Amino acid sequence: MNKLTTTLQGPTGIALLGAVPTLPGALVLGGILQGSNARGMMHDLVQPEYFVSPEPIAIHIASGILFCVLAPLQFSTKLRMRYRKLHRVAGRIAMIAGLLFGLTAVLLMGLPPASADAWLHYAGMTFAGLGVCFSLCMAFLTIRRGDVVRHRQWMRRVIAFGLFGASRALFEATVMPLMGAITIVGEGVSVWLAIALNLYVAERLSKSDGTKPKPRLNAGTP
Ligand code: HEM
Repeated sequence: MNKLTTTLQGPTGIALLGAVPTLPGALVLGGILQGSNARGMMHDLVQPEYFVSPEPIAIHIASGILFCVLAPLQFSTKLRMRYRKLHRVAGRIAMIAGLLFGLTAVLLMGLPPASADAWLHYAGMTFAGLGVCFSLCMAFLTIRRGDVVRHRQWMRRVIAFGLFGASRALFEATVMPLMGAITIVGEGVSVWLAIALNLYVAERLSKSDGTKPKPRLNAGTP
């Protein structure tokens, strides 16, 4: 494995994935905070319906950005070893931020769509939002038990679900245009492909760095 691949598997890779929603997110959040009467580039990036009820989307973007900033630091072994307390405090803030953007994602998706075409997209987005929340809860429970190996695995899954948007953008910029105009079904397909790819990479990383937990010696015993 070359040095570039190794670097991308750690905090740098997570930071790059996080930059995909963070950079436009900061502009959209800026536009929302300016209010509906403002003018300018940031204002124009905001979907008009966000001004009607700005709280859920503002919380979603702000917590998403916070998570994207903190997550790479949590995966830095050097920082973790040198500043244990910081790792613990930043980890708790990142967990709350993750829960907030996961739950608001589900809220923003709203009720199931009436049209069958939109179901794939709706189910994928909801699955990703709930996947973030469930994986965060598991990461919390495992570290409370002192199980560092499983904690890291669950945190990788949080990243896989939470930052699927970067892989989705990649599919929508490369493969999808080859199939013609992007339809709502196509968007649904890209969401599921992105989640699957991210989860696959997360499991491969856990396996390759030897963090896959070995079967417990007492497995199967009451
Ligand atoms: C599980 C992961 C995520 C899911 C399922 C999700 C879901 C959603 C949903 C449902 C919306 C509203 C879309 C609409 O109104 O049409 C949204 C908007 C948005 N999300 Fe997320 N999100 C996730 C992660 C993140 C993260 C980590 C960020 C980081 C900043 C982020 C930034 C944004 C931004 C900037 C918007 C506004 C997009 C626009 O103006 O069109 N999201 N997201």
